[in-house]
Amino acid sequence: MTQDELKTLVGQAALQYVEPGSLVGVGTGSTVDKFIDALAASGMQIAGAVSSSVRSTERMKALGIQVLDAGEVTSLPVYIDGADEIDHGGCMIKGGGAALTREKIVADLAQRFVCIADESKLVEVLGSFPLPVEVIPMAAAQIARRFESLGGQATLRAGVVTDNGCQILDVRGLKISDPKAFEADVNQWPGVVTVGVFARNRASVCLLGTSQGVKTLSF
Ligand code: 5RP
Repeated sequence: MTQDELKTLVGQAALQYVEPGSLVGVGTGSTVDKFIDALAASGMQIAGAVSSSVRSTERMKALGIQVLDAGEVTSLPVYIDGADEIDHGGCMIKGGGAALTREKIVADLAQRFVCIADESKLVEVLGSFPLPVEVIPMAAAQIARRFESLGGQATLRAGVVTDNGCQILDVRGLKISDPKAFEADVNQWPGVVTVGVFARNRASVCLLGTSQGVKTLSF
């Protein structure tokens, strides 16, 4: 199966975590696009979706799915999103699509985070995928120097302005062996809006697309 087919498979499989008539949090990316398409095609009536990006909002609206503002809800039963990497404890690197801040906000509203990913995303240790960090532009150079002192090489993602008007640094060369401590530390650096390590808001379940079918990992 191609990577695209695996994404379709897990996008479809995620429907089982959505209760008819309930709310759903929706992430961002090519795998989530498959979930959005499957949700629309299923004809399931939901109370509405809370979106993590302009991209997902536009796709859902075009398919007739009602989108609510995050401020309108107090809790979501489930949040469905992809990942750039996921480890065996459910911690993830996210932000390849530059939507990490809103993804973390919507994930924080959810009781359950269901990660949908193809098997190439499962790793032993986070860090082979360049770590996205959303930053306030005037702090970018200083934050890059801080990563250098940890052995990372940070580069500004050219031509990208996030939905929040900020910039993305992509940091290569890190091995993140303690994701929770790393996330807590980097989050406190001045000018960091969001670090793309999702450990506090880690996945509860991962639906992993493999050539043998969908594998469910519970954390
Ligand atoms: C966007 C994300 C995505 O979930 C992540 O980049 C995975 O994307 P894809 O499903 O296209 O592989 O974090 O900010």
